[in-house]
Amino acid sequence: MANVDLKQLAGEIIKLKKERNAVILSHVYQRPEVQEIADFVGDSLELSRKAAGTDADVIVFCGVHFMAESAAILSPQKTVLLPEEDAGCPMADMVTAEALRARKAEVPDAVVVCYVNTSAEVKAECDIACTSANAVKVVASLPPGRPIIFVPDKNLGRYIISQTGREMMLWEGYCNTHHRLTLDDVKKVKSEHPDALLLVHPECRPEVVALADHVASTTGMLRFARECPAKEYIVATEKGILHQFKKQCPGKMFYPASDKLVCPNMKATTLEKVLRSLQTMEPRITVPGDIRERALQCLERMLAVQ
Ligand code: 13P
Ligand code: SF4
Repeated sequence: MANVDLKQLAGEIIKLKKERNAVILSHVYQRPEVQEIADFVGDSLELSRKAAGTDADVIVFCGVHFMAESAAILSPQKTVLLPEEDAGCPMADMVTAEALRARKAEVPDAVVVCYVNTSAEVKAECDIACTSANAVKVVASLPPGRPIIFVPDKNLGRYIISQTGREMMLWEGYCNTHHRLTLDDVKKVKSEHPDALLLVHPECRPEVVALADHVASTTGMLRFARECPAKEYIVATEKGILHQFKKQCPGKMFYPASDKLVCPNMKATTLEKVLRSLQTMEPRITVPGDIRERALQCLERMLAVQ
């Protein structure tokens, strides 16, 4: 779409946002033009904190379904809009509440930890949630000696085990986008940019994580690149983050670890859809009361971990 159209759409969104007393939250994987109209751009953990703390009447969540659902769990009195209703997370769909209940029945004394990339129904079955930014702290905070079931990301799970030394029973889940990145892809890009530091998201395969100069959530990567004197970085996470790297670290060079690192669900939100959602106040994300209460405990325990 031409820049002038994007500008016009952005102007209409900003105007309507004020009339509706809405706040627009955007994940760093969103399209650049969507990030630009947001009041706040961040990772999953920061966006949950913003959703819990905002005094706006309406939250427009530019991200995927589980993120908007977390906002609805944390702020039930607010209207939560997800501009593209079908923007889901394939990894979140890899664990169902039913399958998790069956697993819990096999290990009744287990503490159940879920990645925030899960449905509200799954969170309602879990003791505590985590994001990639606080996963190591969350697991390290658990009582020693208790078995731990971790769902659904096996790659993040392996990384947590390596950092905490805690045994965990993992699930066969993974992020389609990050898991697609192979060791050969990374070796190739490293050979093309031998001086660049390698930043890796823990949703990547363990053999890719093993090559990293720094492993972090999306916001953790941005912080590292802002503070580190190195001038060149290879980025092993979804390519939408490059927009923030360029904005926050002028004068430094960032190379995607592969052109495959695109999450179609994160790219499904467009400015047209954001505007339409503010005009129609749809699609609205709600969570039924009984599930919400149990999922809220799971999220609140996470937010209490410092
Ligand atoms: P973070 O926002 O925690 O870095 O997670 C990345 C992700 O894949 C979100 O869907
Ligand atoms: Fe889900 Fe991966 Fe897309 Fe994040 S990047 S929304 S984990 S599929």
